[in-house]
Amino acid sequence: MFAWVVPLIATGLLTTTATGDKINNTPFPKDFLFGTSTAAYQIEGAWNTHGKGEINWDRFISANPALIPDNATAKVACDSYHRYLEDVEQLKQSGSQFYRMSIAWSRILPHGFTNKINEEGVQYYKRLFAELNRNNIVPFVTIYHFDTPQAIEDLGGWTNSDIVTWYGDYARLLFRLFGDDVKYWMTVNEPKQSCHFGYGTGFFAPGTKSPGVGEYECVKNIIMAHATAWRIYDEEFRSTQNGQVGVVIDTVWYEPDNVTEVSSVLASEFMMHFTYGLYANPIVFGDFPDVVKERVARRSAAQGFPRSRLPVFTEEEQRLVKGTFDFLGLNYYSTLMIRRDPNADPHGKGYDGDNEVFTYFDDSWPMPAKKNMRVVPWGMRKCLKWIQRVYGNPPVYITENGYPGNRTLDDVERIDFIQSHLSSVKDAMDIDGANVKGYSYWSIMDNFEWRFGYSVTFGLFDVDFETQNRTARKSLEYYRKVISTRCLVE
Ligand code: NOJ
Repeated sequence: MFAWVVPLIATGLLTTTATGDKINNTPFPKDFLFGTSTAAYQIEGAWNTHGKGEINWDRFISANPALIPDNATAKVACDSYHRYLEDVEQLKQSGSQFYRMSIAWSRILPHGFTNKINEEGVQYYKRLFAELNRNNIVPFVTIYHFDTPQAIEDLGGWTNSDIVTWYGDYARLLFRLFGDDVKYWMTVNEPKQSCHFGYGTGFFAPGTKSPGVGEYECVKNIIMAHATAWRIYDEEFRSTQNGQVGVVIDTVWYEPDNVTEVSSVLASEFMMHFTYGLYANPIVFGDFPDVVKERVARRSAAQGFPRSRLPVFTEEEQRLVKGTFDFLGLNYYSTLMIRRDPNADPHGKGYDGDNEVFTYFDDSWPMPAKKNMRVVPWGMRKCLKWIQRVYGNPPVYITENGYPGNRTLDDVERIDFIQSHLSSVKDAMDIDGANVKGYSYWSIMDNFEWRFGYSVTFGLFDVDFETQNRTARKSLEYYRKVISTRCLVE
């Protein structure tokens, strides 16, 4: 047994739960922040109210009405545009110290450009921030969470490099309008999902299928946009507003399927560079990871492309993007097993593109009722450890982690999920020394889960989308206790 375990058991700080999980029950530090997350399009509704402009998802759904289970749309969602006071009440009940939310670009700028500002949209967020601050709930605000104004999407969206300027102008406007009320900004949420699903597989809006080409144009532009916003904040606002600007990147953990086999171990390492590193590496070090550059170039050549499908950062661009973060965000939900397999069917399930790997879930891992994922708390610690090792232990916020259950109020699985994942975070902090600053549960309430509509529910509050009644689940009470006691077990 490791030396650290013995004193923990002796003091009761390592506890075994009824389900046999070992829980690290040492208290979280006083300055560690607990929060809950949402995103504008998933909760606000009021899709065209008071001058809000059309976005890529509105168009994607209206053009393909059967796209989403039950032909669902986000036109009303949780109706938060009208019920934000209820949202704040819920946040208060949860004990959340911060609220990770996003601003809808087209509510502020109906066409995405700063030549037309929608004053009613501005006032909505002013009222919301005032209410949060009045209740000592710190706003953590995402500038872009999958919702591109349609006018900008019509011009190519994230595949058009002009978006870097348009997004920069939008970000500057937000800093100017809301910077007194908001001290934590996240430039983009899960760029991997926007680029891979939006312009690679077409699973997300705008539904463009350009794997490994349009997808990588998006990657570079979104990193440039992020960096531009960070520099604008740094140069024009930091000295007066004194806030922080980070980025939110998602990844699963990739567990080598044979730890004694070098190829599996390297597949895991390289795949982390293809997911988290694809974005974090330029932002921290100024360029894509070497392994990504090398593999995409090699496969592009084999496929007959005249040059690599991966865009290049010029030296000037490298200088611009390097070091543009005050913290890194991590969205972690699950883990996949991985092995290197250059011969796997490129169109087959589990095959993952330019890195020539095969991934799969281990069937022994518990599966939530409602989503194609597995519950693997230790994967969270491994992700944190990887970030710590590769990026020199930067400040990290876990900006999302959540359990997609069924609609029961008696959600014991969600309680276990939160407990075991927070225990893993605590291990990462206590044992590995990871610099984790906070954790935000996804989500405070059930909401519009993109391609899954309302069929997948993550909330600490159940939402009845017919009546808009919101009802606390058992997990709300558990999370509230964690926040007030700063421990995982009573
Ligand atoms: C990732 C996304 O940021 C969020 O929009 C989504 O609802 C959750 N994870 C759950 O899938």
